[in-house]
Amino acid sequence: MTDAKDWWRSAVIYQVYIRSFADGTGTGVGDIRGLRSRLPYLRELGVDALWITPWYPSPMLDGGYDVADYRDIAREFGTLADAEQLISDAHRHGMRIIIDIVPNHTSDRHVWFQAALEAGPGSPERARYVFRPGRGDDGSLPPNNWQSTFGGPAWTRVTEADGQPGEWYLHLFDSSQPDLEWGNAEVREEFLDILRFWFDRGVDGMRIDVAHGMIKHPELPDLPATDGGELLEPPREGDHPYWDRDDVHEIYRDWRTVADSYDPPRVFVAEAWVDSPYRLAQYVRPGGLHTAFNFDYLRAPWSAAELRKTIDHTLEVFGTVHAPATWVLSNHDVERHVTRYGREQTAALAGSNRPDELGEADEALGTRRARAAILLKLALPGSAYIYQGEELGLPEVLDLPEHALQDPIWKRSGYTKRGRDGCRVPLPWTRYGPSYGFGVDGSWLPQPADWGARSVQAQQDDPASMLALYREALRLRRDFRALGEGQLSWLPDSGAAVLAFERRPGFACVVNLGDRPAELPAHSRVQLTSVPLDDGMLPPDAAAWLAT
Ligand code: GLC
Repeated sequence: MTDAKDWWRSAVIYQVYIRSFADGTGTGVGDIRGLRSRLPYLRELGVDALWITPWYPSPMLDGGYDVADYRDIAREFGTLADAEQLISDAHRHGMRIIIDIVPNHTSDRHVWFQAALEAGPGSPERARYVFRPGRGDDGSLPPNNWQSTFGGPAWTRVTEADGQPGEWYLHLFDSSQPDLEWGNAEVREEFLDILRFWFDRGVDGMRIDVAHGMIKHPELPDLPATDGGELLEPPREGDHPYWDRDDVHEIYRDWRTVADSYDPPRVFVAEAWVDSPYRLAQYVRPGGLHTAFNFDYLRAPWSAAELRKTIDHTLEVFGTVHAPATWVLSNHDVERHVTRYGREQTAALAGSNRPDELGEADEALGTRRARAAILLKLALPGSAYIYQGEELGLPEVLDLPEHALQDPIWKRSGYTKRGRDGCRVPLPWTRYGPSYGFGVDGSWLPQPADWGARSVQAQQDDPASMLALYREALRLRRDFRALGEGQLSWLPDSGAAVLAFERRPGFACVVNLGDRPAELPAHSRVQLTSVPLDDGMLPPDAAAWLAT
């Protein structure tokens, strides 16, 4: 592990969706023991840090993004002692640990929410959440027309102590995820304390869930009729009543002060679905957060012009605030990019993964593009994210049986949107076995029958595998001084179908997004290609790394 204080500016960070990574206790659910046993694999892969999705006690109605206690570990994942052990093991292996923090809402099982229900209207307990009387004569209509991101109204009515229907509470996500009132000083203090709790235990950073949420317009005005709440739908720039409001940055200035009080300073990455790179850059201004996921990159289609536009915008805008760019293609909320890149429509879409809506996916094409995409992603200036299983080239699982679906989107959409389970299927580690080495028994979501052939075991000695490509690219990224942070200059070879750029000193990347072979720049030496060259030419949907 390098001691550099600014490691995060160029880190490759691997996202561990803990429920689906490795099951060390035979429960069918991934856990800390499983993750600890696979640290050597991650070290060998060559990543700098792990981001672990929420591991707190939770009813797991939204995969743990419904936190009941921010200072403990869910029994199904282990104990606080296991977490501390994991942090020190990871550090010993030279990897840092980033954990998820969920400040926009708690679980309805959180003691605060339980106390709010008991204490009744007007109480300080209710003032930690967003409770309001309903509209209409008898208060039977929700306080406004906001919709939950997962479908249905964003308000639920409670039954008061006298058995009568009473106030409504706001939940921008599932009804089991009541929104906190961030105008309340107690809420702010509590989260500063939670940050310290984990930083004191050696956690190196936090990924902030729904970082563009938290602050609501004080009057909670109705939304214009057409404005839904889709997870991936960026708010229109300006005065949206609950997304990306300017006052949210005040919270992060306080958080930054806490992070900076540690040695080494702790870091943040924001999950903020916002309207433009400009809005995103507001989160990473000096004195604010360190980094933010670049979802514009994930939303960009597989097109040279579109990718170049996104890359240029990102670098320009982040440059103005001296923050490093980040690059991300998949996560636990969107369709895996092997599948997405095999469709006609290659940009990430909101909510639904239904093949009948999105059209067929050509997996061979998607895989070919994903191989090129990792070389592009790792060659760009800044820090990069890898979602577990992308290094195995896993596709989205599109045919999970309906009875297995667990994402709250399925139910809240009236069983019309299958939700995000298809990218959360437990990883295959071995060719055979009840859950392909995920654990000793089954897995909480069923794995496809061909998962064994995609396992780590099946790929690790195959030089043509996706895993081998990731390992080699990550190894070279460490060796090439030009990679990581820094500048990018487009080469004259770049055009309507080809992306070609230089990273000085001595490196170039060429990606062919067109439909005919492309030439490589003269006087360069090929270091790594996503597919074999064809007569010295770069075939379509392929990428090459060059020493110049
Ligand atoms: C974030 C998480 C997502 C979760 C939502 C609500 O977008 O990534 O998985 O459902 O927040 O917490």
